[in-house]
Amino acid sequence: MVNSERNFIITTSLGARSNQHELAARISVETGIPYIARDTKTIGELKENWQPDGIVVVEPLRIVCIIGESEFFFHPAMAVIRIKEIKSGKNDQMIKAMDLCQGQCLLDCTLGLATDAIVASYIVGPEGFVLGIENSPLVASIVRVGLQKRYKKTGHAVLRAMNRITVLRGDHRVILQDLPDNSFEVVYFDPMFRVPRSKSSGINALRPLADHRPITQEVLAAALRIAKKRVVVKENRWGYELKKLGFDLIQGGANSSVRYGIKIKDG
Ligand SMILES: C[S@@+](CC[C@H](N)C(=O)[O-])C[C@H]1O[C@@H](n2cnc3c(N)ncnc32)[C@H](O)[C@@H]1O
Repeated sequence: MVNSERNFIITTSLGARSNQHELAARISVETGIPYIARDTKTIGELKENWQPDGIVVVEPLRIVCIIGESEFFFHPAMAVIRIKEIKSGKNDQMIKAMDLCQGQCLLDCTLGLATDAIVASYIVGPEGFVLGIENSPLVASIVRVGLQKRYKKTGHAVLRAMNRITVLRGDHRVILQDLPDNSFEVVYFDPMFRVPRSKSSGINALRPLADHRPITQEVLAAALRIAKKRVVVKENRWGYELKKLGFDLIQGGANSSVRYGIKIKDG
């Protein structure tokens, strides 16, 4: 459990079915967050009884984490929009920076809400593979479950791309040490921005749960060893991390607030 999840509780919506109870119990085991039976209690009563910093509620169609006024939950909407644009012939800046093609393997070291991973999984297709690492146990659990559900207005190809993503809970600083050389074509990082300017409600709701540490030179060296082709790091236009990490090749749309540092592997 990370610090931010230490004083959370997990429950279900009122009148939950057995599959909701089972899922709440499973997430409780995965995250170490205590499972409190909802019975007939309101969220207000649970808050009063337990004084938690956050309440995770397993609803029939989604899992939502309520922290103060904000609600964190998984939804593929942003990925659906990007994939629609790709299909209509538009360039996706991330895919361009990754130079990602069908059949390739991507290691996404900062999975978060998995928007980037879904777009990448759609591009690499069933012959490829996307492995996403996420350090927040709760985010990893919510996203892992969310990637296997069905959503209105989400076509079969996108749902299949979501289903194919493997979620690994852990710290990429540790996990990268054990991965073999040249095992993924591309290794990708989208760390929490040092100078946040996001208007995205999803990213803002993720903020209290996320690991905010920056990418280190050691992590970058490990990523270069694991990558067959390139390492890509995302940053917003106000950040200074890409420079600090020694990226010379930086790409991004002229009107975009984000840019991508690229290190191409020699040989
Ligand atoms: C900006 S979000 C990524 C958003 C993601 N690219 C998307 O499309 O939804 C960064 C995520 O990386 C995770 N993270 C940061 N450092 C990490 C680490 N050392 N190991 C694993 N996950 C990490 C954070 O917890 C957060 O969920």
